[in-house]
Amino acid sequence: MSLPPPQESPFRTNIFAGQVALITGGSSGIGREITRQLGLHGAAVAISGRRQQVLDDAVAAFKEECITAIGLQGDVRKAADCERWVQEATAHFGRLDVLVNCAAGNFLASAEELSVNGFRTVMEIDAIGTFAASRAAFPALRARGGSIINISATLHYGATWWQAHASAAKAAVDSLTRSLAVEWGAFGVRVNGIAPGPTGGTAGVSKLAGVDASEEEVNEMVASTIPIGRVGSTWDIAIAAVFLCSPAARHITGDTLVVDGAAWMWKQPV
Ligand code: HXC
Repeated sequence: MSLPPPQESPFRTNIFAGQVALITGGSSGIGREITRQLGLHGAAVAISGRRQQVLDDAVAAFKEECITAIGLQGDVRKAADCERWVQEATAHFGRLDVLVNCAAGNFLASAEELSVNGFRTVMEIDAIGTFAASRAAFPALRARGGSIINISATLHYGATWWQAHASAAKAAVDSLTRSLAVEWGAFGVRVNGIAPGPTGGTAGVSKLAGVDASEEEVNEMVASTIPIGRVGSTWDIAIAAVFLCSPAARHITGDTLVVDGAAWMWKQPV
């Protein structure tokens, strides 16, 4: 129950021609569609992830759509892997213009049952991984000016049951978006975030809905709590990333764009 993408992009399809993007977590879910849209709008793309086969499958699918793509195996929790991804992407394509921090980990757990290691794991993937990849990419991005997109969430705008770990991690990501925007603006590097709401066909919905129901049933249930009347699609998030990386957003930095159909602010009428 999300709208199908329009037949034609609202943007010119060559806006990123000659540019190179590195997307962590780019082989599945939201990261995969962001990668695809950056590619369909002209960028050469490098995706990183832990599972080689998943990377290979995604790269093959991108190539079928004439997108120039490579896969880089590794774990965003290892700073050395983040540095290697940037080195390999720049060695392969000669430059780097865009970094999308999309690698994330999450599960439902009450604070009482969540182990310290479970909390640390999500902080390491989401928050420290975002910092490590951004820090690694900065020297390449500042060479020509570029853009970073941090995929966030709205979990921490209020408070969300069973999400103490992910809420803390995404709050840190939003803070990092602002700090890096302030420090790196003078170098022509813009840093923005996107906070998706419930997004159809992603682990975020299937894992976190917390009910035993089909994807369609979950979508319908979730849609009834979204003012715009439907769950988002990966295209909705990806096209927001295209906008934020494009010259149309040249004066936007340090912001986190909520793409959720007003879901987070919804309250039952009293
Ligand atoms: C409680 C759990 C748990 C669970 C793991 N842990 N799963 N605790 N409930 N369901 C605990 C483990 O017990 C362990 O702590 C610690 O977390 C590390 O777990 P590992 O399995 O060893 O870690 P790892 O294999 O590296 O897996 C990381 C992961 C996993 C995050 C736990 O789920 C993962 O890799 N996921 C990647 C994909 C993903 O989750 N994508 C969803 C993103 S959705 P102990 O103490 O036992 O050692 C998203 C959207 C949010 O981000 C917004 C929604 C609207």
